Amino acid sequence: MTFISLECENILSLYEKNLYGEKKDKRIKNWLNLLSELPELNNVKNDLISGVNIFGKCSQSEEEVIDSLLFEFLPWRKGPFTVNSTLIDSEWRSNLKWDRFLDLKLDLRNKTILDVGSGNGYYAFRMLGQQAGAILCLEPNLTHYSQFLAINHFLKTNKVRMLPERIEDLNLRETHFDLVFSMGLLYHQRDPSMHVRSLKRAMKKKGKLIIETIIAPSNYGNYLQPKGPYASMPNVYYVHTDKGFRELIENENLSVIDSSEETKTTFREQRQTRWMPFKSYESAVLKDNHDLTVENFPAPKRKFYILEGRN
Ligand SMILES: C[S@@+](CC[C@H](N)C(=O)[O-])C[C@H]1O[C@@H](n2cnc3c(N)ncnc32)[C@H](O)[C@@H]1O
Repeated sequence: MTFISLECENILSLYEKNLYGEKKDKRIKNWLNLLSELPELNNVKNDLISGVNIFGKCSQSEEEVIDSLLFEFLPWRKGPFTVNSTLIDSEWRSNLKWDRFLDLKLDLRNKTILDVGSGNGYYAFRMLGQQAGAILCLEPNLTHYSQFLAINHFLKTNKVRMLPERIEDLNLRETHFDLVFSMGLLYHQRDPSMHVRSLKRAMKKKGKLIIETIIAPSNYGNYLQPKGPYASMPNVYYVHTDKGFRELIENENLSVIDSSEETKTTFREQRQTRWMPFKSYESAVLKDNHDLTVENFPAPKRKFYILEGRN
């Protein structure tokens, strides 16, 4: 069966023999070695409804090899994943964001989906748990891409595929998706309108666009412009207010058909773990006032918007 479109298939086929395409990175050799050493599981079963949980038969020693090889793909930012007795306890409890999306009750059944900036594919696997038809993920970060390859080594689904590319570099001209997701990308854009336009180009006429982003308090007008790090994150250019976000998307002829509450990030949702041993949310907010970032900006609150074209 064709994966979404012939055009999509043709692009994906360029990565079939050479998983990393034309990418040049010293770490690729190591990732390819790790991937080739991952043991096979037999009689694989999965649960993608309550999490990303994969179970299959293998020996005790293979189970230990799986645990230690998966560990070498760190830092694991998104998850958690379970592969038999291995629990990949990622920095983000991404299941909490997914629960907030599910609260919006958008039907994913049989839909074709583009997940832009998908990370390691955690959400794409959860979309499959909601019976999505096919999900194309775009993720230029090669650590996240490699983690996806490792997890899908066990899951072996051909309904989720990932390309290690940025949306601007992907030359999809004829393919349009029922649903396009951009979660956690908008505030990293130097030109947010251009980002929204590239997402809109990928939508079917009657398709929907799901944007999840950080929202600044209304006293900032249209956006907070940190001009330096925000919550210890580099490359944050515009943190829109709700009003600024709505103006941005209205200028692109889109309208909000549904949205979630704003949810404050907590240490429960984002924290350092053994699988992500670097700085995390504890270095993003003030020790004695979690409502302020270390740069004295309002601490992040995240919100989902579901958008449709206006004509
Ligand atoms: C903050 S993370 C969000 C990951 C995930 N979507 C989530 O919500 O947890 C943003 C991701 O987008 C990826 N990214 C950044 N610019 C991108 C672009 N132009 N096209 C596709 N992905 C991009 C980054 O590599 C990163 O993994």
